[in-house]
Amino acid sequence: MAFTIAIDGPAAAGKGTISKAVAAHFGFAHLDTGLLYRAVGAKTLAGVEAIAAAKALVAEDLEAEDLRTPEVAQAASKVAVIPEVRSALVDFQKAFARRAGGAVLDGRDIGTVICPDAEAKLFVTASAEVRAERRFKELQGKGGDQGYEEVLADVKERDKRDRERATAPLKPAADAVQIDTSEMSIEAAVQAAIAAIEARRG
Ligand code: DC
Repeated sequence: MAFTIAIDGPAAAGKGTISKAVAAHFGFAHLDTGLLYRAVGAKTLAGVEAIAAAKALVAEDLEAEDLRTPEVAQAASKVAVIPEVRSALVDFQKAFARRAGGAVLDGRDIGTVICPDAEAKLFVTASAEVRAERRFKELQGKGGDQGYEEVLADVKERDKRDRERATAPLKPAADAVQIDTSEMSIEAAVQAAIAAIEARRG
């Protein structure tokens, strides 16, 4: 039986952590759709044209190293503005969403564009300052050299581009349950997500 859970929200709101925990809880497969855009962004940094890179993307590209760097995140947000890049990635995401056994997809436009009929939709947010603080600590843990102010500026720039683009902008679906994780522990946010999904499962 297919059951799709769509989890959208801005960078570093906690989508990734919540999605992994939710997928483990329900025994569903998980796709971090940001990785598709990051893989295309990484290819453009290596000199490949964005639309060609998106059309030629294969599953192994999602395993590439260094897809989590701030440079690749910015490149991902830039290629994500291009309608032909987005359309080249649609079929893969839709097929993943309807696989037997259930799927969790997290991204920016899952509940609005990729899976408008998803059985459960969440929109995970947090203030830009809280998200920058989390990303700053994560990058520091990996030995990164970006200061907090730089990370905050990065987060705001990416938010703006993701929210204001013409095609599939970041926004909550009308029927999404919103979870603001600014003042929540990871455990509390995961519990809130699971409770919201259980309510939709009936
Ligand atoms: O979730 P992330 O930070 O890995 O995403 C990187 C970028 O990819 C993000 O800034 C915008 C883009 N993206 C998108 O446009 N649509 C998605 N479904 C997922 C990511």
